[in-house]
Amino acid sequence: MCGIVGYIGEGEKKEFLLSGLKELEYRGYDSAGIAVLKDGHITSYRTLGKLENLVHKTEAFSSDGFGLGIGHTRWATHGKPTEANAHPHRGEFSYVIHNGIIENYKEIKENLQKEGVKFLSQTDSEVIVHLFEKFIKEELSAQDAFKSTIEMLQGAYAILLVTKDEPETIFFAKNAVPLILGQNAKEEKFMSSSDSPLIGYATEVVYLEDGEYGWVKKDEISLFMNEKPVIPTFATLGRDKIYAQKDGFRFFMEKEIYEQSSVVSETLMGRISDEGVELDELKDIDFSDIDNIKICACGTSYHAGLTAAYLFERLSKIRCQVEIASEFRYKEPLLDKKTLFLVISQSGETADTLEALKMAKKANMKTLAICNVDNSSIVRLADATLLTRAGIEKGVASTKAFATQVITLWLLSLYMGKKTIPAKKMQSEIKALLHTPSVLHVEDNTHEKIRRLSKRYLHGHGFFFIGRDIFFPLALEGALKLKEISYLHAEGYPSGEMKHGPIALADSELFTVALMPQTMLYEKTKSNVEELSARDATILAISPKEFDLADDFIKTTEQSHPMSEFFEMMIITQILALEIAVRLGNDVDMPRNLAKSVTVE
Ligand code: M6R
Repeated sequence: MCGIVGYIGEGEKKEFLLSGLKELEYRGYDSAGIAVLKDGHITSYRTLGKLENLVHKTEAFSSDGFGLGIGHTRWATHGKPTEANAHPHRGEFSYVIHNGIIENYKEIKENLQKEGVKFLSQTDSEVIVHLFEKFIKEELSAQDAFKSTIEMLQGAYAILLVTKDEPETIFFAKNAVPLILGQNAKEEKFMSSSDSPLIGYATEVVYLEDGEYGWVKKDEISLFMNEKPVIPTFATLGRDKIYAQKDGFRFFMEKEIYEQSSVVSETLMGRISDEGVELDELKDIDFSDIDNIKICACGTSYHAGLTAAYLFERLSKIRCQVEIASEFRYKEPLLDKKTLFLVISQSGETADTLEALKMAKKANMKTLAICNVDNSSIVRLADATLLTRAGIEKGVASTKAFATQVITLWLLSLYMGKKTIPAKKMQSEIKALLHTPSVLHVEDNTHEKIRRLSKRYLHGHGFFFIGRDIFFPLALEGALKLKEISYLHAEGYPSGEMKHGPIALADSELFTVALMPQTMLYEKTKSNVEELSARDATILAISPKEFDLADDFIKTTEQSHPMSEFFEMMIITQILALEIAVRLGNDVDMPRNLAKSVTVE
């Protein structure tokens, strides 16, 4: 995930920019760069690879005295990791850095090229600086040119732009990607993707909202939304790095739940084009003889695999089986070279999953890893890897790793179904994929409603999370989340299976969390929930449709695609687990008896 920093003031700009980028290193990157505007002159440096390379390249450069600077770490999406694709991107007299994805960049680029603009990189980001300069050449003020530029962009972005046309100003814009402004009493202004680079520099900060844009000068911040001025609300910035790393949330798990919208945008970046799904990582793998997929994983990753099995069979029309890695290892499985062996792991170090992968390699199967940690043991061993790009996940209870795994698997199912999925269906799947980041946006009132409801679910003799189809693995995952951090007993079950045994447990102290999507088998699920209600089970229904028999009801939004409902319900079950655990006084981030990476079998 890209990282962004910016600075205005009298201090040594290089020092803040490089130390800020260092703080953002954990987000992952493959190149880095800075640009400093001082005395009407812009100096820029870019390097491939680690930040040390940039530190080395800028050794002889100093930038004391009033000026501005912007810095960026890039995680390649559009275009390979090369120095030319590294940020800042330059026009004739301006430089830009960008985190996110400009969905309509091709169209903008083509129009600019027709007008004679020469592009130096393969990135989507470069269009921003050329658009801005085009408006300047049309005699707009820098402020109006920036506003007009932002109006033309579709997608997710955190943008900083500097221009010789306005040498005392940094222009900024934010949509669906984090951006923070900070200041101190020394008339210094700062910008960053997260709090931690600002600690020790800024004393107060504003967390920008989606759609906000504006410009910063030494002694002024002008902030706008929908062309109307907004008065920035500053909050004091703490001095605790761990607190800062939590971005003001109580727990890493909570931060990671809220991050899901932006990390899923990262997962999608550069992987969708007009032609469909593009997975560069797989271009050298020949899937033509593959007629079966075997998925192996543990815990939450196993649940992502179960979800994917529905997608592979339904969309790619390829048979798919999912196995718990620790079971697979000792069952003397029959392995076949026409089967793609797919392992899923957040850490890439889970011993059982790694050993299962070794078995598949030994059997000369094609192997593919879905993983969050580059260079982990699983990534190094598999023939190919699709990185999930969730960023570091610190909460032991996995949240954003699950969301990004499911998105990556959904992309893969469309990629593998390229030849079989009708064009219209492919378009509607891609539309739904691109809609996911907005579905994953947590609404304050939803969180507050779940927090209030949670007090009724601190006792009882157990929870059943129930759902059908892809909502069954989601039910399993919801139950696992609750178990892990609340220490209450919870099970996930297919709704239609309750009457084959578990319904014997039904009474008012049995809590059923019913996942009732409108777009998938609603009437069938409803009948199953009615059967439980008739036996006096306490029902917490999660659905866009009002349900009279529910004791508690969380209303979701009307969606047209089951995966959109899936992700909305996923967030609700995560927050429910979190709020129950908080009320029970448990350590949410480090639950008892659990480790983040399970490297023993
Ligand atoms: O790193 P992995 O995805 O391979 O880990 C697998 C499980 O240990 C992991 O998903 C575990 O179940 C989590 N604590 C779930 O929240």
